[in-house]
Amino acid sequence: MAARFPSSWMDELYSRVDIVQVVSSYVPLKKNGSRYWGLCPFHHEKTPSFSVNAEQNLYFCFGCKAGGNVVQFVEEMERLNFREAVEYLANMVHLPVPQLQDDPDYEQRRSQRERLLSANREAAKWYHAQLWLPENKNLLDYLYKRGLDDGTIRKFGLGAAPDEWDALTRYLEGKGFSQEELRLAGLTVVKEETRFDMFRNRAIFPIIDIQSNVLGFGGRAMGDAQPKYLNTSDTPVFNKRKGVYAANLLKKQRNLKRIILVEGYMDVVALVQHGINGVVATLGTALTNEQARLLKRYAPEIWVSYDGDSAGQHAIMRALDIFEQEDIPARVLFFPDDLDPDEFIRQRGLDQFEKLRPLRAAEYRLQRAQEGLDLSDTEGRMEYAKRCALILKKVKEPVELDYYVQKLSVKTGFSQEVLMQQIGVPAAALQQNRAQTAPEKKRSSTNNNDGGPSVPEKKLLAILASGNVSNTVIKSDDFDDERVKAWSALLIDGRHPADILDGCETEQERSLASEIFAMNNEINSENADAIAEDCLIAIRRGRIHRKMDEIHTRISSMDQEEKEKALRELVLLSNEAARLKAAAQRKEHLI
Ligand code: UTP
Ligand code: MN
Repeated sequence: MAARFPSSWMDELYSRVDIVQVVSSYVPLKKNGSRYWGLCPFHHEKTPSFSVNAEQNLYFCFGCKAGGNVVQFVEEMERLNFREAVEYLANMVHLPVPQLQDDPDYEQRRSQRERLLSANREAAKWYHAQLWLPENKNLLDYLYKRGLDDGTIRKFGLGAAPDEWDALTRYLEGKGFSQEELRLAGLTVVKEETRFDMFRNRAIFPIIDIQSNVLGFGGRAMGDAQPKYLNTSDTPVFNKRKGVYAANLLKKQRNLKRIILVEGYMDVVALVQHGINGVVATLGTALTNEQARLLKRYAPEIWVSYDGDSAGQHAIMRALDIFEQEDIPARVLFFPDDLDPDEFIRQRGLDQFEKLRPLRAAEYRLQRAQEGLDLSDTEGRMEYAKRCALILKKVKEPVELDYYVQKLSVKTGFSQEVLMQQIGVPAAALQQNRAQTAPEKKRSSTNNNDGGPSVPEKKLLAILASGNVSNTVIKSDDFDDERVKAWSALLIDGRHPADILDGCETEQERSLASEIFAMNNEINSENADAIAEDCLIAIRRGRIHRKMDEIHTRISSMDQEEKEKALRELVLLSNEAARLKAAAQRKEHLI
């Protein structure tokens, strides 16, 4: 866990830092109304849609939906972690950084962490040196046989774990590391009376993070020894679900257009040796959301490039789902003839590699949807069209959608209109547009259809975040969406919106929260109560209408007694709905 700074100190930092000044050093800003505007640094644009809310130290881009607080802005721009970004800002405003006394374990954990990282670093140096010794010639020859040259071996710091029981352990003990430290670092295995090296007779791939820390190792067995790859298991400094192999090289490769994500250590090393930049691998596990977010910071797009076997295919689908959850554009780079990237680049070379065309995520999914179906048969075509419609629902770009629908129409014989209906596009798209552009009074009755919070809910949260309404007017039970409800509880508790952004676990969540907080610029102490009341009425009306809809759908399957009860309830609900509608109209009249 990242260290926390005392919240009173964070408040002080937020109040001293001027986000306009911070952002201005990257992007020129112009004031317009209560906001500042500029060209978004997170996506390419010609007219400014990047807004800065000076009062609350927040930013939000209406174009790409990137948003966050001032600390997160610095994290993104300077590629720092939370702690580093906080320290960066604290220095800027000459605010002394506290000693984190609140957390007595922290110092101890930090020093342990440093010890383990230093043991790893020594081990990596030692493994690398071993590679050049005559007695470990078999390991060096193995790497040569895999096509690697000395430059690549140095670049990745590859090494050799000799075929001995405890050569590394003895060496590191000589350097003053305790057996317990070596065990914790995953370098030494301790069993009853004995201890021995974790890696023996293996080619070593050090796993190095973006700050150049050696976190752990992967060891490739010689011959058929099992397991083929042995990896450092999780340790206090290494979590294989959080990092990727070759992250350290990303830092040097700014402005990458894409990252290629492969499965294996050897795939990374071979592609890089052939001049391909921005290649990383997961560490012997399926891709995680954390890894996806890490990669997002280094390139606008990810190409998933796993093996072509069925396990690989399955893993590609899972990875695409994760990238979609994190709102990261992804494509699939597919290697023909069951070759893995390492084999492909060695056999066919860079020219052929550059000719490979990555498939868009939807394109790949559509291809997979055909599996097991016979398109010469009506049943098969129908099933295929249905499967594709589910996939196409998620395609956001109209031109991309149009392209797929045209192709699908040719393939299945269904008209484009029918396919569009199956996808459900017109209705959904229309609803969304209306929600965004319609004037206030039309918006306020928006019903909530599980697609995230409704407009009145968002607005209500924005009012809460603006601090212009007294905390007793709005309660967290007024919200239906679980996330928004949780955020409202924090705001009512007196937490700053910036804090809420710090607590967001996915990019999507952070984007949603930033979008909502960016809505509050028209709210002031004069109009806050009235707008809040509008929203509350709209939310209640939404609930009533949903309840009525729900009863209507069930009513046909009810017996007589239940039906009568349901009808009575419907009458009550519709009275209540009418009352709320009248209340809303009265208010409109007054305003
Ligand atoms: P592969 O079995 O596809 O190996 O495993 P590879 O990369 O092609 O290896 P070479 O070319 O035979 O040397 C892909 C990745 O899965 C993890 C490793 O991260 C490996 O790079 N893996 C595989 C393990 O962690 N343990 C294993 O036993 C096998
Ligand atoms: Mn391979």
